[in-house]
Amino acid sequence: MSVPQPPEPIPGARLLFSLDPAVSHLNHGSFGAVPIGVQRAQQRLRDEMEANPLRFFTQGLVDRIAHTRRHLAGFLGADPDGSALVGNTTTGVAVVLQSLGLQSGDEVLSTDHGYGAVSLAIQRECRRTGAVSRVLPIPLAASDEQLVQIIRAGLRPGRTRVLVVDQLTSATAKLFPTAAIVGVAREHGVPVLVDAAHAPGMLSTTVASIGADFWVGNLHKWAYAPRGTALLAVAPQWRDRIEPLVVSWEQESGFPARVEWQATLDYTSWLAAPAGLFTLRSLGVDRVRAHNAALAAYGQRMVADALGVPPAQLPDPGGPEVSLRLIPLPAGLAATIDAARALQARIGERLAAEVAVMSWNGRGWLRLTGQVYNTADEYERLAARLPALLAQR
Ligand SMILES: Cc1ncc(COP(=O)(O)O)c(C=O)c1O
Repeated sequence: MSVPQPPEPIPGARLLFSLDPAVSHLNHGSFGAVPIGVQRAQQRLRDEMEANPLRFFTQGLVDRIAHTRRHLAGFLGADPDGSALVGNTTTGVAVVLQSLGLQSGDEVLSTDHGYGAVSLAIQRECRRTGAVSRVLPIPLAASDEQLVQIIRAGLRPGRTRVLVVDQLTSATAKLFPTAAIVGVAREHGVPVLVDAAHAPGMLSTTVASIGADFWVGNLHKWAYAPRGTALLAVAPQWRDRIEPLVVSWEQESGFPARVEWQATLDYTSWLAAPAGLFTLRSLGVDRVRAHNAALAAYGQRMVADALGVPPAQLPDPGGPEVSLRLIPLPAGLAATIDAARALQARIGERLAAEVAVMSWNGRGWLRLTGQVYNTADEYERLAARLPALLAQR
């Protein structure tokens, strides 16, 4: 079978980033990369803050944050007044979990594709409240219909107080049919929290069209915002019940200000985030999405071919915009999280290529991403050198 052609590069896009040119950056998914113009925008805001900290914090900052939130929420198709800026998806998840009022006998339902830190947060909230965490196994190859069916069968109305699902999973790069899942959960009276860490910038699905009770996504991955920028969208019936992790001066103002104002922090990442959207829009949002997904697919096939993995064994991410792709590693490699981390570091050091190595259900996977700063030859170099590295156990 022939390897797909890589997409045409987006001219000049590489120059927008300050990434080390000696390294292939093939893991945009973990921590993103901030374009130079966005770094500069944040630095200008920091200069303004340092010129007169008192004025910066006391004259108009709450309004500037609200204005920024409206801008970002508008881009994501979320209700601007029903959303709050938070530092990251992990924080947004914690805010929701501790606002649910879980009690002994309640159940939090999630899937075995969930993000590790989110699973830990669920476990802690369950320990704190006496609720129980139940994790539904979902086969990697499950179709949308099968996935919805498994979730439907797993709900326990009256006991399941919240269902936590990913929009696009981290370890398995699988797109979940979140709108359909929300529909099924609603039929059974179960609220849904969508972990959409990878969605902003990469996926065109709007927050409103998913209709979840809670949705939280990072702008600091695929929307080019400075790190520390995420949006938590909350359905109207929950807004009064949402409590911040830290009580501060806007507590009496209600949602979203009470969640956004978290005392003395560096809020410049939020204020500079619209510059990330500006970069994305100037490159062309649809063009970037199509480019990144096609490049990730190309990289997946190149590396899979080099490792002797037939195309039929490559997981299908489930949607044309997904810019994260998995390749199965030879059996026995990266079988645990520690082994995966060690292998990821070894690939980084020896091959000058930053990739994600995932361990999921006892099996190792390589996860590659495509971004506007990547070129086809970076995946080709990795494909040429990886088999020998993996052979040296
Ligand atoms: C699915 C998923 N959820 C949550 C997170 C956590 O994001 P953050 O570290 O920005 O809180 C990630 C990060 O990669 C993720 O992939």
